[in-house]
Amino acid sequence: MDLVKVEVLFDRETLKKKVAEMGKQISQDYKGRDLLVVGILKGAFVFMADLIREMEVPVELDFMDVSSYGISTSSSGEVRIVKDLEYSIKDRDVLIVEDIVDTGLTLKYICEILRNRNPRSLKIACLLDKPSRRKTDIHPDYVGYTIPDKFVVGYGLDYAEQYRHYPAVCVLKPAVYEN
Ligand code: PRP
Ligand code: MN
Ligand code: MG
Repeated sequence: MDLVKVEVLFDRETLKKKVAEMGKQISQDYKGRDLLVVGILKGAFVFMADLIREMEVPVELDFMDVSSYGISTSSSGEVRIVKDLEYSIKDRDVLIVEDIVDTGLTLKYICEILRNRNPRSLKIACLLDKPSRRKTDIHPDYVGYTIPDKFVVGYGLDYAEQYRHYPAVCVLKPAVYEN
């Protein structure tokens, strides 16, 4: 990790414990049911990979890629489907996994689409929540950390596609994106 550019917010060990707690809670809540976990590419993939390995209920996976236009530190609000789910979610217990909920525009769009497909249940698990930036009425059901309005990268999260591979959640220093 380039510590000139980033500052560690949640390190590997801290994240591991938090994700284990979340997996335990989710496993309790879905006890006796089969879960379809839907990861939202690309940001969710690291969190999702760790979270599913903490689950003690039968899990199937699918992925959706819904991306907003342009490279920016904030969502533009325009959303399009890049890759749809492979399987039907009708009558399934669906858990959407996200790395971060910011304005909530991405999840609002996804939830609207998925709800129309009549799942048995639809919930959201996110590692990070930035409620101060919310522009929609999206309320994640499982939240790892509520964070202030700082630009975060690592553990799947990017800035211009960089830093996703960093094992910690880090704050990107403003000098990196301010000119
Ligand atoms: C990021 C993040 C969430 C979304 C949150 O994804 O992974 O999916 O933005 O922002 P919002 O709540 O304001 O919609 P991004 O569109 O950058 O794509 P990525 O996951 O491929 O980085
Ligand atoms: Mn994303
Ligand atoms: Mg991104």
